[in-house]
Amino acid sequence: MHDFSDKIVLITGAARGIGKAIAERFAQANATVLILDLNREAIDHTVSELQGAGHQAFGYEANVTDARAIEELFTAVVKEHGKIDVLINNAGITRDNLMLRMKEEDWDLVLNINLKGAFICTQKVFKHMMKARVGSIINISSVIGLMGNAGQANYAASKGGMIAFTKSCAKEFAGRNIRVNAVAPGFIETEMTATLSDEIRAEYAKVIPLNKMGSPQDVAKLCMFLASDESEYITGQTIAVDGGLTMQ
Ligand SMILES: NC(=O)c1ccc[n+]([C@@H]2O[C@H](COP(=O)([O-])OP(=O)(O)OC[C@H]3O[C@@H](n4cnc5c(N)ncnc54)[C@H](O)[C@@H]3O)[C@@H](O)[C@H]2O)c1
Repeated sequence: MHDFSDKIVLITGAARGIGKAIAERFAQANATVLILDLNREAIDHTVSELQGAGHQAFGYEANVTDARAIEELFTAVVKEHGKIDVLINNAGITRDNLMLRMKEEDWDLVLNINLKGAFICTQKVFKHMMKARVGSIINISSVIGLMGNAGQANYAASKGGMIAFTKSCAKEFAGRNIRVNAVAPGFIETEMTATLSDEIRAEYAKVIPLNKMGSPQDVAKLCMFLASDESEYITGQTIAVDGGLTMQ
């Protein structure tokens, strides 16, 4: 495992699921992890679990769509911790429906949280990273952003948008030594997917060359590589963690 001693890693939507697994992995690698989420109760639970294990973890309740709150929060964080080395835009939601039934408000909500939220957090962190002339930003997209999916037009648009956003930021920030990459998870075992029946799970597994769903830790491991110096010549990429499902 890489050593992230003295590194400040901020992860959005990290109170549970994939974001929490990412926070745990960075904490185990000696990073100071900053957990930003909407859900106060889940934040407290995750932060106390991490602190109980002897890690450096701090929780912040905020909505990634609230530009003003995010700007104030990042300024406060930099004052408190000195810098932000890594930002992981992980907060995301689904509001699935077939096109004819999709409500405009569900389109707006998904695009706002998944895509605009990443824009806001990236813009606000860039201000601090550009002064430090170093940083790594990782956007958690999805294989759905690469392949599309019936019933997920809003989600697919938000995740595909994140990929194009990643490339643009990578070009814009490269001169400041700030790398921007996207991770596209496939079917990952989380609370979100825990409700799926064994039949559906088996159907999914059939189309995955490695024949199983992935774990949040699989996503976390890639994030750690992309945040570390091991990937210092990699920027603007979208890397799938999907058991071979997409093979772009
Ligand atoms: N689970 C999968 O199979 C899978 C696959 C591909 C991509 N992803 C992506 O990975 C990311 C994490 O997914 P997950 O399965 O862990 O989801 P999850 O629902 O378990 O966790 C998402 C977290 O984000 C937080 N959040 C939601 N809206 C927020 C907002 N506006 N501001 C701040 N925090 C907010 C929630 O409170 C929650 O703690 C998402 O972007 C998702 O689209 C997941």
